[in-house]
Amino acid sequence: MKKTRRQFLSGVGRAGAALAAFSIVPARVLGAHAPSTRINVAVIGTGNQGTPDMQLFLTEDDVQVVAVCDVNRASGGYRNADQFLGREPARKLVDAYYAGQTRSGAYRSCAAYLDFREVLARPDVDAVVIVVPDHWHRVMTVMAAEAGKDIYCEKPLSLTVADGRAMVAAVRRYGVVLQTGSHERSRRQTRFAVELARSGRLGQLRKITAVVGPWNKSGPESGWQPTPVPEGFDYERWLGPAPWAPYHQDRCLYNFRFNLDYSGGQVTNYGAHSLDMAQWGNNSDRSGPVEIADAGSEWPTDGLFTVAKVVHFRARYANGVELECITRDDNVACRFEGTEGWVETGYKGLFAEPASLLRADLDPHERIGTNANHIRNFLDAIKTRTDPIVPVEVGHSSATLCHIGNIAMQLKRRLRWDPAAEKFSGDDEANRLLSRARREPWA
Ligand SMILES: NC(=O)c1ccc[n+]([C@@H]2O[C@H](COP(=O)([O-])OP(=O)(O)OC[C@H]3O[C@@H](n4cnc5c(N)ncnc54)[C@H](O)[C@@H]3O)[C@@H](O)[C@H]2O)c1
Repeated sequence: MKKTRRQFLSGVGRAGAALAAFSIVPARVLGAHAPSTRINVAVIGTGNQGTPDMQLFLTEDDVQVVAVCDVNRASGGYRNADQFLGREPARKLVDAYYAGQTRSGAYRSCAAYLDFREVLARPDVDAVVIVVPDHWHRVMTVMAAEAGKDIYCEKPLSLTVADGRAMVAAVRRYGVVLQTGSHERSRRQTRFAVELARSGRLGQLRKITAVVGPWNKSGPESGWQPTPVPEGFDYERWLGPAPWAPYHQDRCLYNFRFNLDYSGGQVTNYGAHSLDMAQWGNNSDRSGPVEIADAGSEWPTDGLFTVAKVVHFRARYANGVELECITRDDNVACRFEGTEGWVETGYKGLFAEPASLLRADLDPHERIGTNANHIRNFLDAIKTRTDPIVPVEVGHSSATLCHIGNIAMQLKRRLRWDPAAEKFSGDDEANRLLSRARREPWA
């Protein structure tokens, strides 16, 4: 990221501070691209992650953010107390940003929508950024692909294995570009660790440890009572394809990730980064393990939150590599252990043994990935009509690993997985958990 971008992002998540940041306009946005040659982007879901994602798109000088969409008009109640988000704060952010670009003449007001179908119906929208809870990813992605929109879909790509498969089919059928939001792939440090693992610099790869974070919120205990739906929040549209359930504020904004009806918990939330790294480093990111088993996960017995409280499972790949997924406070990390050393990358940094591995001068053929940031990589893929760094198949197989890990932990037994057929062998109960019913009219 360039310095100008960081200055701009210093305001992320706090509408007031972010508005103040708009007075710093990077020189490169002043008129390099005429409005008619820009990629028109709409952001669907302007909450905790949608708002910073939107700000990253805004600072790309060949992008025009023309629309935002959220079922929440404006409120607090997101991850942090100082976040006041929703479609109206998002629209104001966009308008303030473009209004600050007076010399470019780029100012066009941004429209705010409640219903994403109105966004998809706009012929001038080239690409959509889908940053809604996971239970909406399939429906929105498939409908966006049908409408011919290119798609940036946040991680985890899917809520179920069947959802991911449907998303792959739609993206390929309609020939649109999809980037999965597993942005750790576009980080130099991640790529370097993966390059060491894939190139044989660690000797023969033996074991991978993937870290996911613990619960960072606590939910209502047993006996919780429904609370009134806040004014300006369309709860029915928020639920969409998920099973109907009485409203509680800890069900929806941000906290949806602790409820299995809308998410897979921290396995899918953080695993969409750390298990994605594991798959990449093992060179199996369009495939998966052949065996997977619970290793001591812990689950809540009552209350509103239903996802695994302590994540712990083990898996084995056809090449003999063992994978262990554990819960740890540093949230995201992946360690690759080979016969001649190990490397670990994650939120805490990059570590290796022997430390000389960190100074390895890799040959060009050992290099993978790109130097572009994740969003730039998506925009370049739109222009060249090529796959971005985390195309739909890769997002799908990383999410699949998260889902089958969840299923093994739920069933508490060893499961045999066929990565080509995307089914468990000889276990009907496990196979039934690979898909879910969707509520009308979203089925
Ligand atoms: N790449 C990352 O590191 C990263 C980080 C955080 C979240 N995420 C992902 O982003 C997604 C959203 O997570 P979040 O933390 O921003 O959640 P959030 O609850 O803070 O925001 C989601 C927003 O989507 C809105 N929404 C829900 N249904 C909608 C609909 N039908 N139409 C329009 N808007 C709708 C909600 O009202 C809310 O404002 C999740 O898939 C999550 O995993 C990715």
